[in-house]
Amino acid sequence: MSDSLQVELNFPAGFLWGTATAAHQVEGGNINQWSAWEQKGGGRIFGNQVSGAACDWWNGRAEGDFDRAASLHNNALRLSVEWSRIQPEPDRWDEAALDRYRQMAAALRDRGLEPVVTLYHFTYPLWLEERGGWLCPDAPRLFARFAARVVEALGEYVRLWCTINEPMVYAVQSYLFGLWPPGRQDLGEALQVAAALVRAHAAAYHAIKPDHPEAQLGFAKHQIAFTPRWPVVDGLGAWALNALFNEAIFGAFTRGRLRWLPGMTTSVPEARGTLDWIGLQYYNRYHVRLNPCVAGAMLYEQYVPAGLPKGPDGWGELAPEQVYPLIRQLHRLVGVPIYVTEVGVPDADDSIRPGYLARSLRWVWRACMHNYPVRGFFFWSLVDNFEWAEGYDPRFRFGLYGVDFATQERTERRSARLYRAVCAAHALTADILREHAPEAISAVFEKPPRQMP
Ligand code: GAL
Repeated sequence: MSDSLQVELNFPAGFLWGTATAAHQVEGGNINQWSAWEQKGGGRIFGNQVSGAACDWWNGRAEGDFDRAASLHNNALRLSVEWSRIQPEPDRWDEAALDRYRQMAAALRDRGLEPVVTLYHFTYPLWLEERGGWLCPDAPRLFARFAARVVEALGEYVRLWCTINEPMVYAVQSYLFGLWPPGRQDLGEALQVAAALVRAHAAAYHAIKPDHPEAQLGFAKHQIAFTPRWPVVDGLGAWALNALFNEAIFGAFTRGRLRWLPGMTTSVPEARGTLDWIGLQYYNRYHVRLNPCVAGAMLYEQYVPAGLPKGPDGWGELAPEQVYPLIRQLHRLVGVPIYVTEVGVPDADDSIRPGYLARSLRWVWRACMHNYPVRGFFFWSLVDNFEWAEGYDPRFRFGLYGVDFATQERTERRSARLYRAVCAAHALTADILREHAPEAISAVFEKPPRQMP
């Protein structure tokens, strides 16, 4: 690629640039079903670690990180509120906690950052756990009550609300694979929990909208790119995984029915028409092949063919261009405005992240140019943080800024400088790449791969 290349990939006016975070991963000191799980030890978390002080946001370090986000020329930031802080008991609201969140939302506005607030990002109070968590038939109503209270308190600062983070990831990790609390391994329960989260979204929508018609309510959906090894032999497996994990719950918002597989549905009529926007979270691609030796209902296994770039064990292929077909897929499924609410890569030494970020943005840009309604991009994450079952495993560092968890010191990474330059220019340009991610120039400006739709 010639040095004089002058290409500029400009993003649409009003596009939101931000990073994404979640309360339990950054705040520190939370007491919820996840912290209880951490206390159990037994290898549930990498090195039996606990989230502890995390990034110490609650005690005042949030604002320093908001300064960092503002220094990146971001105009938005996604964070979540912690249910267990706000409603420590079923009949008690903690006004001081709500005030702290108001303070944080105001601090974001002061810095020109639009807060995008997630109401449920994997953690809930212990009193809900005692009632059975999301399997409690009353959980959607309880969540809606909590959500309405938060919108009441923060509505002055917040327009964009994300009710639920990654319903399918939560259902699968917590109720099918047993890797997250409550550690269950039961497909029926996993489907039940996924449906409960859809109900919770719908209940929150109906509880909030009448009094706050200006509130824009959506949720964040993790989509995985599934590619069959051979279209004929392995196609059925890839199709079924995509149908179950990526597509099933969306039927609720258009037809009032989750459609797991043909003939296998769950009716949720109240969810129809309750999406103002949808969040896409994309991390990796899995190839799918028939393998009758693999235990599991479908006899298909997910793998990464040798030679393809992949993350740490179990992470899957790093294929940033797949964000484009997944944007198309969401548009086909629900047809509402799309925010890319998470894209990121675990990479402690920041050798992969700049190129990964640049390539992701190239495909998000292409979606914008093809008039898909993509309204913003939130990189996961602003700072390194507590990565659920991976804890503080050094292989799972996601931040544009590194964090030394012993001293709370932040270190700006090369990927932060790249993102700053992109957000300032509102464009991904050849000059920016030459300066901050020269290794990505040819991948960003090359012709689309053959198999791209
Ligand atoms: C997402 C999740 C985040 C973060 C990220 C990186 O699935 O929403 O909380 O953990 O993955 O693994």
